Amino acid sequence: MNPFSLDREIARLILLQRIELSTPFVKKLRKILGRYIFTNFVSKYLISKNLISKNYKLKMLEEFNDLKNHINFNGKKILSIGAGMCGLELIIKSNTNKCEFSIIEKNYVSKKVRYGWDEKNFEAYNNLQLLNSFLLNNGMKQKEFKIYDFDKDKLPIESFDLIISLYSLDYHYDFGFYKNYLNDILTPQTNLIFDTIRPNYFEKFFDSVKIIKKQDQTTHKSCRVICGGYKFNDK
Ligand SMILES: C[S@@+](CC[C@H](N)C(=O)[O-])C[C@H]1O[C@@H](n2cnc3c(N)ncnc32)[C@H](O)[C@@H]1O
Repeated sequence: MNPFSLDREIARLILLQRIELSTPFVKKLRKILGRYIFTNFVSKYLISKNLISKNYKLKMLEEFNDLKNHINFNGKKILSIGAGMCGLELIIKSNTNKCEFSIIEKNYVSKKVRYGWDEKNFEAYNNLQLLNSFLLNNGMKQKEFKIYDFDKDKLPIESFDLIISLYSLDYHYDFGFYKNYLNDILTPQTNLIFDTIRPNYFEKFFDSVKIIKKQDQTTHKSCRVICGGYKFNDK
């Protein structure tokens, strides 16, 4: 397996997005030095870019292998919400045929990255220019994806076969931030995959809410769900 091609700044963003990729040493520094120094110094200067690249790819392969037991990705039009550096989307692309990706993300890094429930949805850890170059440098063609800045761009009003939001929508910030938008684009045929601590809440919006994974060891104790059969839109 070839690791992803990336530079230190991209490795830093990946580490902030997937804090589980930290080495025990980096985790300890985060605890001792606090969030501000971690975000602005440790994550910039005390990380191993090669290790992050290798472990990020392994993690994304693991996510893909889990998901493909439940979803056939071939030929799907996919919307990714809070996709981070899109390692999963690159793996989907290289293992399937003719997928198209629309990606909604934020374009800044918070001063002190926190990982709890973000009431106002201010937390972000991405850079859309770097995301664009990461995708191109790792085998995605420009015509295969579009990136949207959640805070500045008009989001795509079109239907998708699949919407993926791992550890983002309803994991760090309320589903409500996307409710109106999703109401405009969801069809009864769209599947939506995300992580949440309240799967039952979604039964009022979807005919089917299937739990495909439980994360009992994490602080959030979330589960991963696939929702389908959106009830309020009969496009
Ligand atoms: C914990 S990371 C998960 C990244 C990726 N899904 C993964 O599994 O590696 C959460 C991501 O959500 C993004 N984010 C936060 N608020 C967002 C919003 N309203 N819309 C889209 N992305 C958002 C952050 O910038 C961050 O990249």
